[in-house]
Amino acid sequence: MSEKLINKGIRPDGRKLDEIRPLKIKAGVVDRADGSAYVEFGTTKVISAVYGPKKVHPRHMEKSKKAILKVRYNMIPFSVYDRKRPGYDKRSVEIAKVVSEALENVIFLEEFPKSAIDIDMEIIQADAGTRVAAITAASVALADAGIPMRGLISSVAAGRVEGNIVLDLTKEEEDASDAIDLPVAMLARTGEITLLQMDGDASVDEIEKIVRMTEKGCKDIEKIQGKALIEKYNANTA
Ligand code: CDP
Repeated sequence: MSEKLINKGIRPDGRKLDEIRPLKIKAGVVDRADGSAYVEFGTTKVISAVYGPKKVHPRHMEKSKKAILKVRYNMIPFSVYDRKRPGYDKRSVEIAKVVSEALENVIFLEEFPKSAIDIDMEIIQADAGTRVAAITAASVALADAGIPMRGLISSVAAGRVEGNIVLDLTKEEEDASDAIDLPVAMLARTGEITLLQMDGDASVDEIEKIVRMTEKGCKDIEKIQGKALIEKYNANTA
């Protein structure tokens, strides 16, 4: 039998089951954009930049009563072990769509009719959880751009590895034979879920435990997102 990844509740990188990877967030990292953020969940690294609200191109895409979100998710070629072919694929289109849906309901889009808000997310290094890191970064970038929102969206995945419910899976854990992974995004202030995806089979009991675990994770992440924004604000006013 192959060696187990999780022994007595301790994971390969030394974390407990309900711990997120070391999380680093910095707001305002791109001078050229209206808002930006850099996020690291362990060795998963992402940068997000926000432009707008601005005019819509092409014009026929504009909405008379609200702004539209144009979300772009991209993995740079050296973000993964097998160099990724530059450009978009089905996966990046799907992730851009779910990220857009995870963010749009908390943004006051009706305040900016006939406008567009561009959200770019570049995955610099991938070790699972790139979509949740991207959402966490995009939310800080939106706030940094001064876009009015009901609150910050925080995001993390949890799942099952070798029968254990675990928070913030690495690629090594995700690749375990029975592993399932549920990326969740929420308005941490209220607990309102704006993204929940799942591949694989899980019981209702497992799903409940997994979602509860992400709730705690998102609340911790929101605090660090808020701190990053305050640090940026303090640096600008010093
Ligand atoms: O990254 P996320 O967990 O949101 O999405 P996924 O599609 O479940 O991908 C899981 C992981 O697989 C990524 O984070 C990468 O580490 C890896 N991956 C890869 O190595 N090459 C790809 N072309 C796509 C994903």
